[in-house]
Parts: sequence; C-alpha cells; structure tokens
Amino acid sequence: MTSPAPARVATESYRERFPIFRHSVYLNSCSLGALSLRARERVNEYLDLWEGRGAAAWYDVWWAALAELRGRYGRIIGAAGSEIALHPNISSALTAVGESLDYSRRRRVVVTSLDFPTIAYQWLAKAGQGVEVVVVESPDDTRVPLEAIERAVDDRTALIATSHVFFTSGALQDAAAIAKIAHRRGALALIDGYQAAGQVPVDVKALDVDFYCAGGLKWLLGGTGVAFLYVRPELTPALLPRATGWFAHREQFRFDPRSLERHDDARRFEAGTPPLMPVYAQLGGLEVLEELGSAEIRRRTMDLTEDLIECARAAGLRPKVAPDPAERTAIVMLPSADPHRDVRRLADARIVTDARPGHVRISPYFYNVRDDHRAAIERLIRD
Ligand SMILES: Cc1ncc(COP(=O)(O)O)c(C=O)c1O
Repeated sequence: MTSPAPARVATESYRERFPIFRHSVYLNSCSLGALSLRARERVNEYLDLWEGRGAAAWYDVWWAALAELRGRYGRIIGAAGSEIALHPNISSALTAVGESLDYSRRRRVVVTSLDFPTIAYQWLAKAGQGVEVVVVESPDDTRVPLEAIERAVDDRTALIATSHVFFTSGALQDAAAIAKIAHRRGALALIDGYQAAGQVPVDVKALDVDFYCAGGLKWLLGGTGVAFLYVRPELTPALLPRATGWFAHREQFRFDPRSLERHDDARRFEAGTPPLMPVYAQLGGLEVLEELGSAEIRRRTMDLTEDLIECARAAGLRPKVAPDPAERTAIVMLPSADPHRDVRRLADARIVTDARPGHVRISPYFYNVRDDHRAAIERLIRD
C-alpha cells in the first residue's frame, strides 16, 4: 500500500468507528475484519441507490464504483487499476489463473504444506489433465525454508503458488525471493496475499511477482464477497483465461455470442457481474485503511503482536510464531489442549478469538489496544 503518511491519530478514535468494540473485545481480524461505520454508510448508499434508481444507477454510478475499487485495490499493492481483476473470492481468482496457464510442457505446480488449501485444490482438480501438485513441507509447522522451495522447482514447473503470510502461523514469506526462484527456472509466481494485504505493506512491483490475490474478508475490512487478482501487465496479452464471462469481453454490451474478444487489461480475468453490496462495503473499509496508511498499520499491529507474544510467554504459554520478529505478523497461535473450549470460554467473557487445531488463534489489528490481548491471556490461564 503506498498511501501517504497519516496524521498520528490515537487508536481510540479508530476504535470508535468499529461498533463491535462497544460490547466486545474483537481479536479475530484474520478470520473477518471488523465492520466499520464507514463500510455500513457506503452499503447504505448502495441500498439507497438501488431503492431510488434501480438499474439506472448502473451506468453513471455503479460502473464507476467498480473502476474505483480496481484503482483502490491497485493502490493497496502498488499496482494500477488496469492490472486488477475483481473476483468474489480467492478461489475464483485462482481459477482465472489456473485456467490461463499452459500445462503441456510444464505440468507442475509447487505449493507448501502451510498454504490455505484452496490453492492446492485448484491444481489438484486438474490431475486429470496431467497437472501435478508438489507440496513443500514445513519442518516446524511455522515456516517453509526457501531452499526447500528452490529444490522443488525445476524445468517442469509452471507455477509456484504460495502465501505471503501463512494463515497457520502468521509467518511472512519472502515473496520477492520466491518470485526469483520461479523466474530462474522459467516458471511464474503467484502469491496469495489474503492474510497480508492490509496488515503488511505490499508492493507487487518490488516483489516482482506475476500474480497476487487478496480481498476484503480479513485485513482489508470489506467483508465477504469481494476479492481481486493482480496480473503483471507484461503477461496479460499472452494469457487467455478458459474460465471467463461477459465482463472479460472488451465490448460486453455488443452481446455477440459469435466471438470472444478479451479486454487488453486485467479485466480479461473477470467473469460475471460483481456483487455490489460487498463492493460498497469494501470501498468504505479501504477509506479507513488509506487514512491510516500501511506503514502505520504495520507499526501498530507489530507493537501489539510483540506485546502479545511477550505476555503469553510470561504467562507460561508457548506461542507458535516465526523465530525472527521481522517474519512475524499479527496472527498468533497459542497452544491449547482444547481450543474450542478455550474459545468458548473467551467468548463468554465477550472476547472474540478463533480455534485452529491445537491452538487458540489471536489476531490484533490497529483498532486493538494492549489490554485486549492481555485480557484474553489472563482468561486463558485462569483455572
Ligand atoms: C490465505 C488464505 N487464502 C484463501 C482463503 C479462502 O479463500 P476463499 O476466498 O476462496 O474462501 C483463506 C481463508 O479464508 C486464507 O486465509
């Protein structure tokens, strides 16, 4: 995200804009970012237009809102709006990539054991076409060594598809190094940034990745139903997605079933009508994020994260996080013999966290304060 440095505004003034904090301590942004007043206002704006103008709003307002969102998503990751395709979720964005590649000479796709599995599923589903998924294992369930990824990539590799931040451990991967490994072997690199964009500054040009996807659900505060795919513009003309729809057509209102002429830009990776309510919610969420700026968000979340790790250790818990603080993000896994029971106990105290196998997962964001996770830890260690 390349937004300008913000005025230093106290956390409290942001927290007031997220009504969930009126009754709960919210520590689960890596599952679902909290709803802001601004996102609700923007959704209401959409509902008013729908009610008042119906389809007439498409042409002078909603069409522009889609372009605005592509532009804003682009700014979040250092790309142009013309390099962004809108999708309803990450799986759909992956489909657009998966159905654009030629597997005839390169049939391997390299993923890691810590990636969200929808990445692997996209290519496991192509086993019937000869596509082979290579899973690089993690030695410690936290990170995957770059050398192991490098060993798995060869001249048969079409793509490395892996996470920017692992949902399982919060560890940040070196996406630039992964892109270099791919390119050295003539392969492409796709980074799933769903757990990164928003909480970590991203510059796809500096990372030199070929594809980058993320979306509203988590750190971008847009809720469900809206995601995006960045495609390196130099690649776009050569890629002809086999999963497509009328939004990919350069003249979609020609309604011509005889020929498919794709957009020159990343819209060729889109398919059908985007869901407008999520688009509006996302525009509202992005406004809040842009105000604060990615560097300040990272600074605030890392301050909370390091304090959370320190307090957990002091309380005798052993958080599963990357050993190097520079590789950590605001997803902290606290070992638990019965995570579902612990998450319920926390919920009884109005503290919202999440359960993952063997762990309670806590994810603070810029609207949290130290007392939030400290209260969670205190509860966890009681009895
Ligand atoms: C890193 C990552 N990728 C993808 C997903 C989910 O993808 P989709 O939008 O297809 O549900 C998640 C979790 O919801 C995730 O944490």
